[in-house]
Amino acid sequence: MTGLAVNVDHIATLRQARGGGIRYPDPVHAAAIAELGGADGIVTHLREDRRHIQDRDVYLLRKTVLSRLILEMAATDEMLAIAADVRPDLVTLVPEKRQELTTEGGLDVCSLFDSLGGAVETLHGAHIAVSLFVDPDADQIRASADIGADMVEIHTGAFCDAQAPSEKKRLFSDITEAARLAGQLELGVNAGHGLCYNTIKYFAGIRTINEFSIGHSIVSRAALTGMEQAVREMRDLIRNL
Ligand code: PXP
Repeated sequence: MTGLAVNVDHIATLRQARGGGIRYPDPVHAAAIAELGGADGIVTHLREDRRHIQDRDVYLLRKTVLSRLILEMAATDEMLAIAADVRPDLVTLVPEKRQELTTEGGLDVCSLFDSLGGAVETLHGAHIAVSLFVDPDADQIRASADIGADMVEIHTGAFCDAQAPSEKKRLFSDITEAARLAGQLELGVNAGHGLCYNTIKYFAGIRTINEFSIGHSIVSRAALTGMEQAVREMRDLIRNL
């Protein structure tokens, strides 16, 4: 059965929107509630600029997550040291640019073969499984197998963003082809980025993907589905002043 790993970064985005002094909403609490809802894993991206998730979140999540903790990170010395200390169940290596709003493209495993190979070796040395976040591209998938990654996460962002039906169909077929190739090369296959309550329906009947990694759409929906109760609770407090 295909699993769901829930990314809690944007709970931290809401917290950080008010600066460092506010302690809510806490991504650690969100992770526990996501697990109550049936999440098969919790994903979190500790970025170099600490724009949302903080070191404290990652260390606490390691202590509290009951399913699996997946740490997304850039392949830098600082992050490799943190991963070796935290020991997540899986590290997903992603490209990271300071100016980007979110992770923009997959890793260029072909060009960065030597440096990424070193990171994969370091993580394996710490007994941490490694996934590489790559575009649905055959060369990148083959390079991921050659480098010794355990799995790939196929970038679904371009497919999700595409508007024209023909373009969407073509990009979806790139994803399923990439997943099929990865499976043939004995790589585990995850997929994620930009998936929402509509785009996920395209994957009906696709059995080559082990797990979807989804954050923004779930956090967005939670904000709206929880709005009514949140307003009622505040209104009751005010009425009872
Ligand atoms: N996978 C990777 C590698 C990501 O960087 C992100 C965004 O943090 C996601 C999945 C989740 O994307 P979204 O928040 O759009 O669901």
